[in-house]
Amino acid sequence: MPKIISFISRKGGTGKTTNAINLASMLHSLGYKVMLVETDTNYTLNTLRKMELFKTGANDKNMFQLIASEDHIVADDIQTYLNSNVDYIILDTAGKTTDVFIKTICIHSNLVIVPTSLSQNDLLVTYQTVEDLKPARELNKKLKIAVLPNRIHGSTKSKTISASLEELDAVLLTNFVPAKNMYAQFSTIMPEKDYLGITKEIVNLL
Ligand SMILES: Nc1ncnc2c1ncn2[C@@H]1O[C@H](COP(=O)(O)OP(=O)(O)OP(=O)(O)O)[C@@H](O)[C@H]1O
Ligand SMILES: [Mg+2]
Repeated sequence: MPKIISFISRKGGTGKTTNAINLASMLHSLGYKVMLVETDTNYTLNTLRKMELFKTGANDKNMFQLIASEDHIVADDIQTYLNSNVDYIILDTAGKTTDVFIKTICIHSNLVIVPTSLSQNDLLVTYQTVEDLKPARELNKKLKIAVLPNRIHGSTKSKTISASLEELDAVLLTNFVPAKNMYAQFSTIMPEKDYLGITKEIVNLL
């Protein structure tokens, strides 16, 4: 049975897509069968994949599956995907996803990852996002919620991160994602090797 990992945040631009693609690429390179579903109707990842295939002449048979869905059909789609032969289904949701769809997605997920920077605004949104997931947690007892510090600057100490997020009713991932250009220029083909530690921590949570 595939494990479903959903990237959710009440705010745009926190790093859902960046981390969803990095996680998918790394899991794939570790030999897992991965399906990445984007529900953001801009479909940036599907467009990027097409461009990368065109540029490199590569064949997508040896890559992870990249699928487009929409908020209002993703729950039905998940039921179909659950029958496919994959280890992980990763959902990249849009910042504008509504309460109802967030709840629907969470009811089907094994793990929700909330990426956040340490800016005051992002932290407040993160607290609110975790709070908003409570009703889904009641209905889905297996649901785990993890907060992933993203876009962290070089000098930030892990103590500062845990102090900023200590009140949260969620697992705080000990690995964090630095603010680096290599993360801003993501690829649907090549994994970023520095993402291995985070990927292993996420795998161990499930
Ligand atoms: N760790 C990082 N280092 C450098 N740039 C980053 C990092 N994480 C995200 N970014 C950049 O921040 C911007 C927003 O990231 P991203 O698109 O992943 O956010 P999102 O949560 O998916 O946004 P939306 O809600 O609009 O879908 C992008 O330009 C991305 O390249
Ligand atoms: Mg996005």
